[in-house]
Amino acid sequence: MTDQASNIYPDLTPAQRIDGKAFAAALRGDVAEGAARFQADRGRQPGLAVVLVGDDPASQVYVKTKMRQAAEAGIRSFPHLLPGSTSQDELLQLIAALNSNDEVDGILVQLPLPAQIEETAVIESIDPGKDVDGFNPVNVGRLSTGQSALVPCTPLGCLLLLQDRLGDLSGKKAVVVGRSNIVGKPMAQLLLNANCTVTTVHSRSRELAAECRSADILVVAVGRPEMVDASYIKPGAIVLDVGINRITRDDGQSRLTGDVDFEAVSTVAGAVTPVPGGIGPMTVACLLRNTLSAAQARAAR
Ligand code: GUN
Repeated sequence: MTDQASNIYPDLTPAQRIDGKAFAAALRGDVAEGAARFQADRGRQPGLAVVLVGDDPASQVYVKTKMRQAAEAGIRSFPHLLPGSTSQDELLQLIAALNSNDEVDGILVQLPLPAQIEETAVIESIDPGKDVDGFNPVNVGRLSTGQSALVPCTPLGCLLLLQDRLGDLSGKKAVVVGRSNIVGKPMAQLLLNANCTVTTVHSRSRELAAECRSADILVVAVGRPEMVDASYIKPGAIVLDVGINRITRDDGQSRLTGDVDFEAVSTVAGAVTPVPGGIGPMTVACLLRNTLSAAQARAAR
């Protein structure tokens, strides 16, 4: 707790720490039960193709985690680890093959892709029914018109945590900081579909802190280490920190931190997600959930 933060609202009790890691583990348990039922009914496991192009170390870690947790949940991975020199045509040919492979229910192409490959072309080539990232414009459109859709994993994880804490979100004032296609925009859409009053703010917004201070629900996804301090927070608000930033301390050691100053914000908020152990584990759990949903929807067709 910093002096600066504790002086703003001296009478408040500290925020609860939202345990995304535990919630994600429970969610993976539910997926594992569903995957076992799917296997009993259909004679095969739900299948997830995981495509990584190049050797970006962070992407390698993410992909490994996704495949390990898929295996633990009874989901079969189809790994495709391609060299960084892979051409766009080669990648599109692979996706076409995965689109027509009946054992593959979900296709995940890890982003970012090397410069010679156009991300949009790749995303648009994935069968919308297998688009477990929810990035294909068909799913984006379905989400924005309130139809059933495969929904991007990180904002879906945020929504599940919020509903677990608050139940019905109707009428809540929600502010989303950041407007990326992966988090900010779909997050705003999900909150709107859940009957929140939603504001999206970003790097060009005016009165950023004041906007945030109006929020019952604050979701921060900007990639700026500890940008959000206690002055951004309405007393009692729920704060979800999507940022994962690696920063180097004065002693040369590096550590992970979010977009939210956890200690300072905890003096004002009602509840806050930590980094690590907050939203991050929810993203992978929701990828597995989406894969099971895609498998069930394909089987029902
Ligand atoms: N890279 C960073 N986040 C994501 C994600 O959610 N999905 C994919 N495919 N790549 C990412």
